[in-house]
Amino acid sequence: MHSKDNQLKKISEYVNHRFSNDSTGHDYFHLERVVKNATKIATEEDANLFITIAAAWLHDIADHKLTNNPEKELNELLQFLNQLGLQYSQIEAIMTIIDTTSYSKGVIPTTIEGKIVQDADRLDAIGAIGIARAFAYGGSKQRSIYDPTKPTDSTIHHFYEKLLLLQDSMHTNTGRMIAVERHQYIENYLQQFYKEWEGE
Ligand code: ADP
Ligand code: NI
Repeated sequence: MHSKDNQLKKISEYVNHRFSNDSTGHDYFHLERVVKNATKIATEEDANLFITIAAAWLHDIADHKLTNNPEKELNELLQFLNQLGLQYSQIEAIMTIIDTTSYSKGVIPTTIEGKIVQDADRLDAIGAIGIARAFAYGGSKQRSIYDPTKPTDSTIHHFYEKLLLLQDSMHTNTGRMIAVERHQYIENYLQQFYKEWEGE
């Protein structure tokens, strides 16, 4: 029989295999951090820990930035979760979270587990790690660090377009509390950045 711990271990191995070659800030360690944050939030928020952790590992599996065939990824995942012995209701809950986590989709998940995974994913886009991921992603798209002559075309612009908005988009109290410190950190970072830019 499949114990829940064993199922989660198998799921982490499944994503490890698929995310081992990413350099856009969506690598396996991003998933590991999202799992950690999601676990922390879920234990405070009376949520189903198994669904939360499974979905946290899997949330980026069909991201169009990582695969050019999301349908295929999702079908393979369905088969895999079936073989792993998950119940239909568990698979459905996980697949729905995968479908709603992404920031770019602009969807608010309806379940607490979905809200937690979305909060955990967004926490990884702010703070020191968030800054590193933004520049890694920008670099992978040939974006400049900052260009005052093209204000909307640099990674610094992404801070205003998205990163500074994340604190107010948290669904859970625990997520919001973690976000406060990370938000302050990027505010301070930007101040220091402009100071150095001006040669002060
Ligand atoms: P999601 O997977 O929730 O849709 P994204 O894939 O847009 O989120 O973002 C994943 C990571 O890449 C985040 O750290 C995000 O800040 C960063 N990122 C996304 N778009 C940009 C961009 N245009 N410039 C810099 N970083 C970006
Ligand atoms: Ni993610």
